[in-house]
Amino acid sequence: MKIAVLISGRGSNLQSLIDACATDDFPAEIVLVISNKADAYGLKRADEASIPTAIFNHKDFATREEFDDAMSNAIEAAGAEFICLAGFMRLLSDTFVKRWHDRLINIHPSLLPTFKGLHVHEQVIERGALFSGCTVHFVRAAMDEGPIIAQAVIPVKPDDNADTLAARVLEQEHVIYPKALRLIAEGRVRVSGERAIIDGRKTPDGHLANPE
Ligand code: GAR
Repeated sequence: MKIAVLISGRGSNLQSLIDACATDDFPAEIVLVISNKADAYGLKRADEASIPTAIFNHKDFATREEFDDAMSNAIEAAGAEFICLAGFMRLLSDTFVKRWHDRLINIHPSLLPTFKGLHVHEQVIERGALFSGCTVHFVRAAMDEGPIIAQAVIPVKPDDNADTLAARVLEQEHVIYPKALRLIAEGRVRVSGERAIIDGRKTPDGHLANPE
């Protein structure tokens, strides 16, 4: 399955997908990396892996729809049939989300549907949640909404701050994103209503990471 990955920054999730795609039997290939920021470190990671890159600065477009259409056209021109958002920090238009319906997934650093939006780890700590984690989900028009494909759960430690929690969640992101992509590329995921069904199971793929 040929995929495009959309990023805005560091690109550590992109790296986990690049590494997975480089393994022998992985059923997906990244054919394009798009960033909306010219200085995103993830672009260097793509260059190093000899993956074509494109920069779309939203400020160069009059409307969100024009920006999104330009990206869609580039993605199709690259031959990609599926999109992974990996730290892409722009809201996508309804038109874009509809055009890529069930062919567009995202990773979010919380156990959705809790703690949507920005500053997730701060929110988790402020609310005194005992567990956090990450979620890979199909993208719908509403922010951080959509059928859940994979989750990992980690305990929040009493002395955690947003940075220490983010680092442990990120380790799990790098595990579940390639895993979810593999399941999809192998044709083992279908969407029924607002639920992802994996190999006929009604529960998402998931794991509880070991507390240290
Ligand atoms: C990741 O933690 C990802 O889950 C989050 O941004 C970070 C990007 O890091 N995405 C969101 O919050 C989307 N709502 P990365 O650039 O190193 O992959």
